[in-house]
Amino acid sequence: MACLFGKSAEGDDEEAVLKLPNGKEHRIKVLKPTSGEDLFLDIRDLHRLTGYFTFDPGFTCTGSCLSAITFIDGPKGICLYRGYPVPELVEHAQALEVAHLLLVGEKATKEEYKSFKREIQKSMLVHEKVKAMFANFTINAHPMAIMVAVTGALSCIFSELDPFDEAHRWLACTRLIAKVPVLACMAYKTSIGQPLMYPRADLSYAENFLYMMFATPMEEYKVNPVAAKAINAFMILHMDHEQNASTSTVRIAGSSQANPYACIAAGVASLWGPAHGGANEAVITMLEQIGTRENVGKFIADVKAKKEGVRLMGFGHRVYKNYDPRAKVMKGLVAQVLKELGVDDPLLGVAQELEKAALSDDYFVQRKLYPNVDYYSGIMLRAIGIPTSMFTVMFAMSRTVGWVSQWNEMVAEGQMRIGRPRQLYVGPQERTWKPEDMSEEKSPSQTVVNFAPRRSSSFSKRVPDVSTR
Ligand code: CMC
Repeated sequence: MACLFGKSAEGDDEEAVLKLPNGKEHRIKVLKPTSGEDLFLDIRDLHRLTGYFTFDPGFTCTGSCLSAITFIDGPKGICLYRGYPVPELVEHAQALEVAHLLLVGEKATKEEYKSFKREIQKSMLVHEKVKAMFANFTINAHPMAIMVAVTGALSCIFSELDPFDEAHRWLACTRLIAKVPVLACMAYKTSIGQPLMYPRADLSYAENFLYMMFATPMEEYKVNPVAAKAINAFMILHMDHEQNASTSTVRIAGSSQANPYACIAAGVASLWGPAHGGANEAVITMLEQIGTRENVGKFIADVKAKKEGVRLMGFGHRVYKNYDPRAKVMKGLVAQVLKELGVDDPLLGVAQELEKAALSDDYFVQRKLYPNVDYYSGIMLRAIGIPTSMFTVMFAMSRTVGWVSQWNEMVAEGQMRIGRPRQLYVGPQERTWKPEDMSEEKSPSQTVVNFAPRRSSSFSKRVPDVSTR
């Protein structure tokens, strides 16, 4: 049994032997995770013993850490949080119960849950100085742009934090889980020019989100239970997904011992792109461009032809080579939420037609491309009244739970070796720098004017000649 970072990964039984071009052999331990069929070659001593590096852009087959938080079986389409199937959690748990599970590792007892909920509620208010920042963003600023800035700004308020102190880490994690939804809603209210709403202690995590998004100081706001259930499900589905781009970004930023609030801001930035969390927004744009079911065939043809800028958004995944289990849950939820809210969204029909066409087309079948979590989520959020520009913000607010859990795991277990990949250099070979006279000819306007020395006006009064006294 090989022991790494205090966790164990089995590795003594099997060995791989790498034959190098110089005829030498290098023995590599094979590591086995506690679930799944994947096997890992432990190459940490490869360079030290052989002088070779590995080359793996996009880390397509490189494990960067040990983690006990989320397990994904891509070929089988399974996703577990701390061993529990995500669809079961969506069905039976509250978002904050799942947040506790991810962060602490175990299901909370009734007492633990009560105290965790109280702690989160107590931390929800954001510093008035951070709130004041919102007044300075331009009206049309994208809420994700605002989120990058204000999440990072929390590090100004909590800059004294010591990541190696467990109590400090707990505070950082719970504060982020509490405050990011509040910041998210403030970002939205700013973008529409409405007053920012403070969270309420009597509402659940999901209800508070809806309240802060849609309430105004003018009248009483009643949270719709169908919408609250949908937001609770959305949050759970997006909370963690092992070492995706944004989570790896948070871990790499944290590996330099940077302030955790700043690390989460880095995660928000990484999530924003359309290949990652920005896909939920991009799916709606794509469906709107397709417009009607009749245009689906032409769109699929453009995707297959790899026409510039055309991609089937919300489809495909690095790890899933099967239906994303989160997408399955989301598809069911969309139908249920639209029915219960009495919403008829023509984009749902376009999305269903597009999915059917893709899943029966060789291009997508051969590449094992299936809908991912982002494919249907936007249609559900639209039905609740959430604007498209907020979709990725909602992903970020939910994923914050995973980011802080992963950051805490990394620091607590001493998996802090600084993230520092290698590169395969393909630039010019060493050459000599020949100094040249680079000074520019002065244009008339740049001509230096030499003034004759003169007295400054403040010295215009005659100064008494002290020497004569
Ligand atoms: N539409 C058309 N072709 C695709 C798509 C797609 N959505 N996804 C992958 N392919 C093709 C790709 O062009 C490549 O084809 P070929 O072998 O001919 O070059 C092949 O499938 C393999 O794809 P890849 O680009 O090597 O896959 P990847 O693992 O690097 O990328 C991905 C994964 C999610 C970035 C990609 O599938 C994609 O861009 N999907 C659309 C964006 C999206 O929905 N992102 C959300 C991901 S899930 C939520 C999250 O965690 O962020």
